[in-house]
Amino acid sequence: AADTPQWRPVLHFSPAAYWMNDPNGPILLDGVYHLFYQYAPGSMTWGHPSWGHATSTDLLHWTEHGVAIAATPGEEIFSGSLVPDPLNRSGLGSTDAPPLLAFHTSVFHDNPAHPDGTQAQSVSVSHDGGFTWRPYAHNPVLTLHPDSRQFRDPSVFWYQDGGCWIMTTVVGDAQLVKLYRSTDLLHWSFLSDFQPSGYRKPGMLWEMPTLVPLKLDGNPRATRWVMIVSVNPWSIAGGSGVQYFVGRFDGVTFTPDALPPPGSDPSRYDWLDHGADQYATTLFANTGSGAPVLIGWMDNWDYATDLPTAPWRGQMTLPVDIALKTVDGHPTVIQTPTRAYEDMVRKKGVVTYGDRNLPQDGRVTIPSRGEVLDIRLVLRRGGARRAGIVVRETPDGRTGTSVSYDFVDGTLTVDRGRSGLVGFSPRFSTRHIAYLAAPGGEVALHLVVDRASVELFANDGVLRMTDLIFPPAGSDRISLFAEGGGATIHGLRVAVLAR
Ligand code: FRU
Repeated sequence: AADTPQWRPVLHFSPAAYWMNDPNGPILLDGVYHLFYQYAPGSMTWGHPSWGHATSTDLLHWTEHGVAIAATPGEEIFSGSLVPDPLNRSGLGSTDAPPLLAFHTSVFHDNPAHPDGTQAQSVSVSHDGGFTWRPYAHNPVLTLHPDSRQFRDPSVFWYQDGGCWIMTTVVGDAQLVKLYRSTDLLHWSFLSDFQPSGYRKPGMLWEMPTLVPLKLDGNPRATRWVMIVSVNPWSIAGGSGVQYFVGRFDGVTFTPDALPPPGSDPSRYDWLDHGADQYATTLFANTGSGAPVLIGWMDNWDYATDLPTAPWRGQMTLPVDIALKTVDGHPTVIQTPTRAYEDMVRKKGVVTYGDRNLPQDGRVTIPSRGEVLDIRLVLRRGGARRAGIVVRETPDGRTGTSVSYDFVDGTLTVDRGRSGLVGFSPRFSTRHIAYLAAPGGEVALHLVVDRASVELFANDGVLRMTDLIFPPAGSDRISLFAEGGGATIHGLRVAVLAR
């Protein structure tokens, strides 16, 4: 296929060439963010993955370092996580030169020790801060008996209260998270299963589990635990998505807060994102006392293999800070772009617009133009039923992605039905809708727009919607609209990050 530079992301990591899926082992080491990822060099589709590697100091500009942990004919390297071992408890380095450990799933083929396709957890070791890796001599370190083809995605963190590391993994097709503990990173003992009577469908896989403590409303004495689980298919916007559970962890068992009764509408559960393109979302390790930082694969297994980009396929979401806040009496994960991102936006220069009253069925195109944008605005209900903004619009107004709020239904919609190329897959869904309260008749929107995506953060990060788009080059207009009555656009602020 011909190259598609018009869709090369500016704000998001994408490999120069070939197929990429999940983020793996993101970590902050000596002020440098390292990102690894499921990578198929030489191929435009998924297959026989290795771990690719990239680094950044601001989570916006990335340097690619090629393959870090390579698949071999007998072993695929699936997703996982990274752990520093500063006291050398693994014995794989020394206290002067502590090792860095990567946990990943090994998928074995043509191996007399394992039935074909067995998935088990393995360790690789780096002595140079993550650039070169060697497999641990006694892999795998954790196998399920009987052997499983669905046992994967180890996420390991240091659990201070227990003086041990905790690993979460899944048995994907059983929709089951398994927890283990270790004091040397090499020997693991089983703790408990997490398999709530939640939202389930036949054929649904659970993948990429991760468990993180967060202080509710910033209170250091109110630590709650959040279990993040990727769900595919049947997620809230169709295909792949990310659910989370707020609960308690006592060192053995994760117990979620009360869940909606089985059979409830999926919108009653907690989702990290209500758009179609957030998956395999995980946390940067080792970020210290700073806010935990999340990153996901900005994609959906429903159509990932059909994306019309070349010579690469796959990109990451914008990394975001997370916090836990009580919203309408409910502990809610809040997601906001990082400080480094906001600093970059300010440096680029923002244009601030005065309040704008849109008459009934009014539509205006504002003077700011660009394809890569940061936009903030508040929609205020006049008599309007619906009001919103269109980005990546062509001058003729025929193509554009709209983000709008319905004040009667209380729903936010991202509509990419006329966003550009949509027909490359029948499963490329066009409209994503989520419930959102509008306290005082107002909804605050923050949009991060790139060459091939729109990321929406609503009401200061209470709700997130992430969607890929494939607009024609030159679709740089921004319009505002109201329907069924008037509306006011307040606090409109636009930064053009690239034309
Ligand atoms: C999630 C996933 C993981 C697996 C990896 C393989 O997208 O299916 O469960 O480890 O991709 O590439």
